[in-house]
Amino acid sequence: MNFRSLRGRDLLSIADLTPEELKFLIDLSLDFKRRFYAGERIISILEGKVLGLIFQKHSTRTRVSLEAAMSQLGGRSFYLSWSELQLGRGEPIKDTARVLERYLDGIAARVYRHRDLVELAEYARIPIINALSDLEHPLQAIADMMTILEKKGRIEGLKIAFLGDGSDNVLHSLMLAASMLGANIYIATAPSYDPNKDILRRAEEEASRSGAEIRIVRDPVEAVENADVVYTDVWVSMGQEAEREKRIKDLQKYQVNSELAKHAKKDFIFMHCLPAHRGEEVTEDVLESPNSVVWDEAENRLHTAKAVLAVLLS
Ligand code: CP
Ligand code: NVA
Repeated sequence: MNFRSLRGRDLLSIADLTPEELKFLIDLSLDFKRRFYAGERIISILEGKVLGLIFQKHSTRTRVSLEAAMSQLGGRSFYLSWSELQLGRGEPIKDTARVLERYLDGIAARVYRHRDLVELAEYARIPIINALSDLEHPLQAIADMMTILEKKGRIEGLKIAFLGDGSDNVLHSLMLAASMLGANIYIATAPSYDPNKDILRRAEEEASRSGAEIRIVRDPVEAVENADVVYTDVWVSMGQEAEREKRIKDLQKYQVNSELAKHAKKDFIFMHCLPAHRGEEVTEDVLESPNSVVWDEAENRLHTAKAVLAVLLS
């Protein structure tokens, strides 16, 4: 395994990677983190390369980590709001793709509809990176797996409990990554919030190869019991604001609070992709507790962004 097997590829889903490629990206991220703290200059890796960021939705971590990663690797990046491009006035994605590929070495895009990313990737012959869609958030899952490995020393055999919206984009990528790397994942969610069926099927195939277990349960305690990792995400994702009241009511039972966290292992880690909504999916005391690793998790978005960009764009 080396840089070359991933060079020029798209990253729309965690399932675009083999388990070996995922492990390679995690190891490379750890290496970039070590080099960052050692103060090593690595600005020749993407010298002269240009990344475009096309975003339809808000972002702090994804946008800034990708832009900082490009700078620290010697490349350039610029932010393109979807609405300010001609895309916002109806220019087709397939036309935009065939123009932008002539200026750029890669595109990271955050979109409402995953199929727009697929179309972008189909028409652009440069790497397209999913910076979050309605279906997945692969950059987040790579950073999450890196964080688990750093904090727990291993991934295989651990129990990850995800509480809340089972149809969440972050969960979909987390579930795929966990099942590829042999971690058991328990998803506690309400009946009409189960994961996307195709993604679940794919995760189950991966799990049958790695020996991992995927369980969807209705009882939050069953998920958290003896868990090594407790993970949650917002109940109302970007684009779902109209369903806000209903979602909050339906998912209330899955709030991560200190009472529920008592069922996890004593040394469990609490994770959240952020931004967090205190008092909804997680309480302030859990988010700010010594078990919470959310700031290190957010930091790891920088190191994993570097690994992904270095291998796809170099
Ligand atoms: N976790 C994450 O993707 O955060 P942003 O929405 O701030 O990019
Ligand atoms: N599920 C959230 C993740 C934000 C990083 C959303 O899509 O809004």
